[in-house]
Amino acid sequence: MLRVENLSKSYGTVVLFDEVGFTINPRERVGLTGRNGHGKTTLFRLIIGEEHPDSGVIAVPKNYSIGHVRQQLSFSEATSIGEACLGLPEEERADRWRAEKILAGLGFGADDMGRAPAGLSGGFQVRLNLAKALLSAPDLLLLDEPTNYLDIASIRWLSRFLNEWMGELMLITHDRSFMDGVTTHTMGIHRRKIRKIQGSTGKLYEQIAKEEEIHEKTR
Ligand SMILES: Nc1ncnc2c1ncn2[C@@H]1O[C@H](COP(=O)(O)OP(=O)(O)O)[C@@H](O)[C@H]1O
Ligand SMILES: [Mg+2]
Repeated sequence: MLRVENLSKSYGTVVLFDEVGFTINPRERVGLTGRNGHGKTTLFRLIIGEEHPDSGVIAVPKNYSIGHVRQQLSFSEATSIGEACLGLPEEERADRWRAEKILAGLGFGADDMGRAPAGLSGGFQVRLNLAKALLSAPDLLLLDEPTNYLDIASIRWLSRFLNEWMGELMLITHDRSFMDGVTTHTMGIHRRKIRKIQGSTGKLYEQIAKEEEIHEKTR
């Protein structure tokens, strides 16, 4: 589980978060919504420690692992399947079948798996990084626009895969139906705060719209 308290973050005069707080409880799969530039990716970078809060805390239990898709497209193994296996926890490195299953789900044919990662298209290199993140089975998985490089069949596979995810998940995607098909909760960045509800994007947007109406009437 992840606990965020009184988190504030600005870039210069741009305030992204003003004392926000939320908790990601065991087994929750949470969609993160918010307009472009409102800080979704920044929140992920704060959680993985690539960026630091101005104030507040991000607390995780001891030994709690957080996984995300690496941006770098640099690989060290001779084959894509070998590279994917690096995502597996060390004691499971030999479980190639697990890596094969995930690569196949993400659209890799048998030939592609034997191909050098550097020889893959950019889109498949991203898929390879996604496969490594899924294989590492972290306690909390962060996915920022995972469908961007996927075809429809792989998107369907990913949706099913995430529905069976045993840990926690935070998901950013502009594809609302994908989000609603995967998540148990929805979280929105709105007016520099973060609100989290149980349920779908529709329910969250409805709540925000109602509040905006009240806000308009009372100002
Ligand atoms: N390292 C940075 N330095 C300055 N401004 C940044 C930095 N990272 C992000 N921003 C700004 O913060 C805002 C939120 O960015 P981002 O988190 O990428 O939004 P989102 O993912 O919701 O589209 C944007 O206006 C962006 O320009
Ligand atoms: Mg972003």
